[in-house]
Amino acid sequence: MTALREEIATELGSLRDAGTYKRFNTLESPQGPVVEMAGRGEVIVLSSNNYLGLADHPDVVAAGIEGLQRYGAGTASVRFICGTFAPHLELERELATLSETEAALTYVSCWNANEAAVPTLTDEHTVIISDELNHASIIDAVRLARPERKVRYAHSDMGELRDALRACDRNQRKLVITDGVFSMEGDLAKLPDILELARAHEATVVVDDSHGVGAVGGPVAESPSTSASSARSTSSPARSARRWAGPPAATSHRQRRCATCWRNGRARSSSRTRFRRRSRAALQPPCASFAPGPTSW
Ligand SMILES: Cc1ncc(COP(=O)(O)O)c(C=O)c1O
Repeated sequence: MTALREEIATELGSLRDAGTYKRFNTLESPQGPVVEMAGRGEVIVLSSNNYLGLADHPDVVAAGIEGLQRYGAGTASVRFICGTFAPHLELERELATLSETEAALTYVSCWNANEAAVPTLTDEHTVIISDELNHASIIDAVRLARPERKVRYAHSDMGELRDALRACDRNQRKLVITDGVFSMEGDLAKLPDILELARAHEATVVVDDSHGVGAVGGPVAESPSTSASSARSTSSPARSARRWAGPPAATSHRQRRCATCWRNGRARSSSRTRFRRRSRAALQPPCASFAPGPTSW
């Protein structure tokens, strides 16, 4: 055995001893609330993000088949090198309309979206201030971004966030990044407080609302990320799909006054078509783009 193989074998042994060695569970049915799992039979799944049941929705499956037949299995390269497919552009236009943003960009996963968005927003003088319980993809994204400084504040500790913001140079770009709904704990980010602090210190708030929009509190205006949001969260098509829909819920006065919240724009607008109204009642915006707001850079 080479040294590397020996080291890996030892590491794997330690994982097995610690009970943390992971194996895949093999699905023998589509993902859903109840699945067929190899060797286990029928199993109730409580851990997926398939909030809207789109993973095996007949319309989604049919559209997938049609897309495969018409366009094949992919562009076989980066979309800006070899070309992109018309349906992707159409999807992005729809997503932008839905979220009332100038444009939307889709990614194959939210991990990708975070790794694209955070470095793009970061320059060499940026300070990134991140909740300690943020999702691993945000942590990776911050590493990739290589900001001038990173600060991790204790989970939802607004005092620590305030201190971190105060310690920044006034002219420095400041990004405050948070999950909207924390993926491990399930608790909500204190977005109204975060936004107030961000406004006071001219920082930009970036929210990964993977588990918020559509899953918590009804429409987007009531979702954690948009209730008082000045920046939209990152997303992927898959993730967006998980998050859309939810029954309308009351909009607070604070939310109605938020200038950058698409949903509030909707509330104010009287010229929406019936289709768009219906869509929005059922669908949530993808949060795939960043809308400049009062605290934006
Ligand atoms: C908050 C959050 N962001 C990002 C991700 C990564 O998402 P994806 O599986 O689409 O890459 C997850 C995964 O569940 C998540 O919980």
